[in-house]
Order: sequence, then structure tokens, then C-alpha cells
Amino acid sequence: MFSVFAIFALTFVVAAAAYQDSPQPEKGEQIMNASCRTCHDLRPIDTHALDEKGWTSEVESMIEQGAEVAKDDVPVLVEYLARMHGALPDGPGKEILLNTCTQCHDLMRVRRQGRSAEGWLEVLDAMLNEGALLSEQDLPVLLRYLARTFKPER
Ligand code: HEC
Ligand code: HEC
Repeated sequence: MFSVFAIFALTFVVAAAAYQDSPQPEKGEQIMNASCRTCHDLRPIDTHALDEKGWTSEVESMIEQGAEVAKDDVPVLVEYLARMHGALPDGPGKEILLNTCTQCHDLMRVRRQGRSAEGWLEVLDAMLNEGALLSEQDLPVLLRYLARTFKPER
């Protein structure tokens, strides 16, 4: 006979297996979470877009200020930051993107997309509906930056 305990035990085994399958944050993210949120939150990271060289010197400067990152972890962290918060082309609209579009989510949602100007206008409309604080003057500047930087793939 199948006892209640057996069912409990089985449920536990299934739940434990599901838990093990759930993806851990990758190494670089783990290092960032452990080392980069003791003095400030992740906002200064979210609002910066740098290449590998830029992140290397930023991380070095943070270590000088007291951030604790194991020597071997530095390249892993820098690679992660350069991939998730990589450099963006300079130009009007960049600062608006970094400051306004990082309030609710990071920029991976933006970076993963390629859209026409009409497509980006739809996104901006949707974000205004979500509550994004994008002024009337900033909207066309940001729209031009997005349409020029994140074009549809051909
Ligand atoms: C010991 C405290 C401390 C830790 C830990 C720390 N930071 Fe900072 N961070 C600061 C201070 C203070 C500032 C503001 C002054 C400055 O820009 O140097 C700052 C500013 C920044 C900025 C903005 C710099 C700019 O040019 O405006 C970035 C980006 C940054 N931190 C990234 C990181 C990363 C990545 C880590 C993890 C490796 C980290 N921080 C860990 C103290 C810290
Ligand atoms: C007030 C919070 C908020 C702000 C600020 C914000 N977003 Fe969003 N964004 C959201 C939410 C919530 C979603 C998920 C909505 C959904 O999936 O329907 C989202 C999703 C997105 C997506 C994915 C849409 C899709 O269909 O795949 C993009 C692209 C995006 N945002 C771009 C931006 C840009 C560009 C800005 C800066 C103007 C911005 N967001 C600012 C809340 C915000």
C-alpha cells in the first residue's frame, strides 16, 4: 500500500530535484552580488556602459577604495560586466537611456532587441504607460538614439 509518508517523501524528492535544476546565477553575477553591493547598490553599475578596458579600471578603482574581490575573480567579473553592461555608442540620448531606462529593469531587454523607429516608439509608449519618467523633450532624442543603435537584424 502506498502510505501518506511515501507520498510526502516522493513529493520531497521531486521538489528537491526541481530545486537543483533551477539555474544558479552565473559566477560573474555571484561575484558582483558579493563584492559590489556593500558600499552602494547596483545602480552605479546599471547606469554605466563600458567596454572591458573601462570595467577593468573601474573594478581596480573600487578595489583601491576597499572592494574585496579575489584576484582570480577579477577577470570573471570584468567579463561579466563587459557583457551585461557593455559600451554603448556615444551621442545624444545615451545618458537618457542609462538614467531613465534602468529604473525598473536593466538594459538587457533593450540590448537584445532590434527595432525600427516605429517599433521603438511603441516600446516607449508602453514604457510611459508603465510609468517611466521620460519627458516630452527627451522622448525624440532617446527615440533617435534607440533607432540608430538597436536596428532590426537583416
Ligand atoms: C568599499 C566601498 C565600495 C565597494 C565595495 C564598491 N564600490 Fe563602487 N563606488 C564606491 C564609491 C565611494 C563610489 C563613488 C565615488 C567614485 O566614483 O569613486 C563608487 C562608484 C562606483 C561607480 C560609478 C563610478 C563613476 O565614475 O561614477 C561604479 C561603476 C562602481 N562604483 C562599480 C563598482 C563595482 C563594479 C564594484 C564591485 C567590484 C564596486 N563598485 C564596489 C565605493 C565602493
Ligand atoms: C516604470 C518602470 C519601467 C521603466 C522606467 C522602463 N521600463 Fe521597460 N519595462 C517595464 C516593464 C514592467 C516591462 C515588462 C512589460 C511586458 O513584458 O509587458 C518592460 C519591458 C521592456 C522591454 C521589453 C518589451 C518587449 O516587448 O519585449 C523593453 C525593450 C523596454 N522595457 C525598454 C525600456 C526603455 C527603452 C525604457 C526607457 C524609456 C524603459 N524600458 C523604462 C517597466 C519599465
